[in-house]
Amino acid sequence: MKHSVIIEPFRIKSVEPIPLSTEEQRVEYLQEAHFNPFLLESDKVIIDLLTDSGTSAMSAAQWAGMMEGDEAYAGSRSWLRMQQEIRDLTSMEHVLPTHQGRAAERIIYSHLGGPGKVFISNTHFDTTRANIEFSGATAFDIPIAEGKDTALEHPFKGNMDTVALERLIALHGEKNFAAVILTVTNNSGGGQPVSMENATEISRICRNHGILFLLDCCRVAENSYFIKHREVGMEHLTYREIAQRMFSLADGAVMSAKKDALVNMGGFLTLRDTALAEACISLLIITEGFTTYGGLSGRDMEAIAIGLTEVFDPNYLEYRVKSTAYLGDGLHRMGVPVMRPTGGHAVYVDAKRLYPHIPVNEYPGQALVCELYRLAGIRSVEIGSVMFGKYAEDGSLIPAQMELVRLAIPRRVYTQSHIEYVLETFAEIMRTRDNVRGYRIVKEPKFLRHFTAHFEAL
Ligand code: F0G
Repeated sequence: MKHSVIIEPFRIKSVEPIPLSTEEQRVEYLQEAHFNPFLLESDKVIIDLLTDSGTSAMSAAQWAGMMEGDEAYAGSRSWLRMQQEIRDLTSMEHVLPTHQGRAAERIIYSHLGGPGKVFISNTHFDTTRANIEFSGATAFDIPIAEGKDTALEHPFKGNMDTVALERLIALHGEKNFAAVILTVTNNSGGGQPVSMENATEISRICRNHGILFLLDCCRVAENSYFIKHREVGMEHLTYREIAQRMFSLADGAVMSAKKDALVNMGGFLTLRDTALAEACISLLIITEGFTTYGGLSGRDMEAIAIGLTEVFDPNYLEYRVKSTAYLGDGLHRMGVPVMRPTGGHAVYVDAKRLYPHIPVNEYPGQALVCELYRLAGIRSVEIGSVMFGKYAEDGSLIPAQMELVRLAIPRRVYTQSHIEYVLETFAEIMRTRDNVRGYRIVKEPKFLRHFTAHFEAL
């Protein structure tokens, strides 16, 4: 018999209770958190879809591996295992362990960046952009035009616009280019995949101009799933072979292991060029730790090595991508405007289309985030003008390209009934959408304001 129901390909061995709350309590909690869910205590959240980062459930094999962790300062066995695993996956000689993705970003982008330098990406993730801009360099996003239309069906909306890439190289001069960064999957652009064809073309352009080509590869296994099922000529390769082929096109990679390495903390930087790696190793030792642990304990490195093999299991990847689509396609059928097609790690709701009566400077995405929490204790994140908005000289808001709300799915954590609960909540969101009002920001820091900003309901 051929089954249409995709089951979670695991049994639950250890459970964590979810504290439930009433709507009345949540109205109070939301006020205390200044209408910013980043400021909520997690015990006040029922379904936490804030991020898929560092929220995975580890496997029995990973927990067992934790006990095997070698905590030696230098030359740890667990380090050698992690290094070998990453070398095999990326074919890159130099591997620098870090405590998470942005630590790897700080090391490489502070070295490559500085005033006058240019970085290009399909879309820079917020910490990537912040690290680049903090160095004084400039970051440009050039997703393909299809990627900006949330309703459009397209197999690889995460692709970079390679015509725009050539144009920008001519405009700014290749010597001012610090790097081209391909984010797979493209998180801020809707969790959409990047094709092998696009990566190959970018690699060719970068090689022709002598520009460094880096992958921001924290969801590379999920990206491989889409390539295998959507790109002609790729169907005969395994998911791991697809990832290996993509790495072979790049000069280096930055990975937050908190996503597709299925761990709660960790990351790494990997490079081909020895001189570049040596410069980065100096920064690594000053700010993260010695070369054989970076910011990690031996047990973390053990779990990363195991997670990087588990994530390419075909049964896992099928469950992972199909269960995200179960939520995304379910919302689509209910008429909720969502980013189409559903991406790998998250569902993105288009808040501008959900709440057309709320202007962008009153943050429709933040309004949806607050509604989801009030109605159901669901925590989500705005990826729009709160996260990416800037101010013009006259103080007016320069909005982001899109006003999205991300429902990120932690790996191996929630079951189908949790997702049914989210779908039920959206039925109510649709019924009451006309009554919802926007927000204004009353307090914000200079960088990464979405983490700590305070809001007031209008
Ligand atoms: N690059 C991408 C594409 C990311 O999604 C993230 C983190 C990072 C780099 C930075 O990694 O958190 O380990 O320092 N994304 C998380 C998210 C925070 O919720 O999407 P980190």
